[in-house]
Amino acid sequence: MSAPTTPADDAVGPAWVRAWDASEGAERATAAFRARFDAEPDGVWSAPGRVNLIGEHTDYNGGLCLPINLLHRTYVAARATSETLSDAVVNLASAQEAAAGLWSARLTEVSPGTVSGWPAYAAGVAWALARAGHAVGGVDAVVDSCVPYGSGLSSSAALECAVAVALDGLFDLGLGADDAGRTQLADACIRAENEIAGAATGGMDQSSSLRAQAGHALLLDCLDGSVRHIPFDLATDGLALLVVDTRAEHQLADGQYAARRTTCDAAAAQLELGTLREIDPGTLEATLARLAPDDAGTQDIETQDVETMRRRVRHVVTEIARVRELVGLLDAGRAREIGPILDASHASLRDDYEVSCLELDLAVEAARAAGALGARMTGGGFGGSAIALVERARVDAVAAAVAAAFAAQGLTPPAFLVAAASAPAARTA
Ligand code: GLA
Repeated sequence: MSAPTTPADDAVGPAWVRAWDASEGAERATAAFRARFDAEPDGVWSAPGRVNLIGEHTDYNGGLCLPINLLHRTYVAARATSETLSDAVVNLASAQEAAAGLWSARLTEVSPGTVSGWPAYAAGVAWALARAGHAVGGVDAVVDSCVPYGSGLSSSAALECAVAVALDGLFDLGLGADDAGRTQLADACIRAENEIAGAATGGMDQSSSLRAQAGHALLLDCLDGSVRHIPFDLATDGLALLVVDTRAEHQLADGQYAARRTTCDAAAAQLELGTLREIDPGTLEATLARLAPDDAGTQDIETQDVETMRRRVRHVVTEIARVRELVGLLDAGRAREIGPILDASHASLRDDYEVSCLELDLAVEAARAAGALGARMTGGGFGGSAIALVERARVDAVAAAVAAAFAAQGLTPPAFLVAAASAPAARTA
């Protein structure tokens, strides 16, 4: 397997998304900070993007999911400028959006609806920590990142979590030291995303970036927030996890994601359950038969069609069961056998949950045709990325086959990376 150091020419071969190492990330963020503020940062902090192995669209249903952290990280160079909330000013800049200049606001003036674009994810974390009673003050920060943006690999959570550990370090909050504190940081990041950025996402991404460990997948129980670290090192089995960023843009994504969540909530309410997690897979069909069209209580188009609502619930319940099955195989040292579970997850997301798209289906099918042991879309869907379990020796061949399938259909060339379970958010320099 080769991992080219620069994106390859499309005519030559598949394009690989290179991960910066810690010193490169720290140097880039520090240089951008010096250029912006003409001063030294107090430090550099970073947080990884993630890829989910199984358990998709289960987090906001109290379900189970199994993400790993990527090598690709977002870096934040920062310094504290005041110790108290009353005079705290947040100054933010992004190396990716240098032309946008500096974003500034008093922290006391950040609230839902007041911040748009990427600063919402960063300033929102300071807001959420302050709301939770933590003593954060003013900060100057510059962000740089090698997590591909908009690719379903959690570039937004990587930004939130990098800012969270930076604020934790700058203001001695003491939260980054253990899992209980990191859970509080994750909660602040989730609040930032839900309330300041206005994205109704479920919390898997932030939990992974802050709580998953290197060499392990994170079995996250979204009912109570508990975790189990599952050893995950495909290389020992001669395998690799190939990630295909389809680079497909889907403008309906936000509305569609929120619609799925609304449908799940409506179904749980009809069934008088706290969450869909409570449905016993053994009585699924009988439970689904109890659902009725819900055309009075909601404007949500999906819940007006009971068959659609049943398909959505079926996905969630069967997907949670697939997480248990896959974890059972990993626990038994049988990673080589997880392929069919990945395939079944993709079929369920495509047919029952309807969050796949042409590019994701093509990536999955082309990878399998080239010898992948299993493949599925990952993340929220409607574009973004797919994963394929492949023999290590076949990584380049499978990537080339997927790239060729996209080229044959005249689609934007996809980008590729190989995922290996990496370290959580932390101070880098
Ligand atoms: C996005 C959200 C997550 C999760 C996934 C789907 O990544 O941010 O909370 O819901 O979609 O599993």
